[in-house]
Amino acid sequence: MEEQMVFAWVMIFCLAIAPVYGQHYSKTIKLGGRVEKKTRLRFFYHDFPGGKNPTTVLLAQANITQDFFSPSPYSSLYAMDDPLTIGPERTSTTIGNAQGLYIALSRDPNKFTAVLYADFAFTTGRFNGSSFSLFSRYPPTDFVPSPDTICEMAIVGGRGAFKMAKGFALLRATSSNAMTGDASLEVNVTLYHY
Ligand SMILES: *[C@@H]1O[C@H](CO)[C@@H](O)[C@H](O)[C@H]1NC(C)=O
Ligand SMILES: *[C@@H]1O[C@H](CO)[C@@H](O)[C@H](O)[C@H]1NC(C)=O
Ligand SMILES: *[C@@H]1O[C@H](CO)[C@@H](O)[C@H](O)[C@H]1NC(C)=O
Repeated sequence: MEEQMVFAWVMIFCLAIAPVYGQHYSKTIKLGGRVEKKTRLRFFYHDFPGGKNPTTVLLAQANITQDFFSPSPYSSLYAMDDPLTIGPERTSTTIGNAQGLYIALSRDPNKFTAVLYADFAFTTGRFNGSSFSLFSRYPPTDFVPSPDTICEMAIVGGRGAFKMAKGFALLRATSSNAMTGDASLEVNVTLYHY
């Protein structure tokens, strides 16, 4: 609604001034009264399906699922509420959480592939109450995640300070346990927003 009103106002303003200041017309429309901002964020993210207090739990699994003992059996849907921290340790200061879903989608039991949809929200600091939405494949290629591989994931939206955000996240596992599926990742985010 607010968007429409700003746009309508710009249109009226431009129509009014167009005959005199013709060259301003396209410039005003292009800016739309807003300036695009670029924000970089860096934090760590902990996904712990194992142990007594898992951050990720299995919600559903298709009947055709074959390998129930694979860390990511094909066609399994998980709910996640993963903490975001300042440092690489799980015990480091928590600054937010990533809540969402991921679906394991590799039919090859030796490969891990998931599609992740999660809202990464901050609960402290300058971006308290703001979040961005990540919706992407992990990992985006066929490689096995390792400390040496960096995955790029797509960011498709946001709330609060990150309203209208688009961008990408670069992720790298800083520790992982193949038996439990527990993993900690370093995340560098680049966001373009208004
Ligand atoms: C899976 O589906 C098949 C066919 O619909 C059914 O016969 C079988 O009992 C199901 N298996 C489980 C574990 O639910
Ligand atoms: C974050 O925002 C919430 C809601 O506005 C507020 O209750 C909370 O105190 C804030 N936390 C910090 C650390 O600023
Ligand atoms: C994130 O940024 C830091 C600082 O620029 C850099 O040292 C690190 O390698 C980056 N990590 C990833 C996963 O992009």
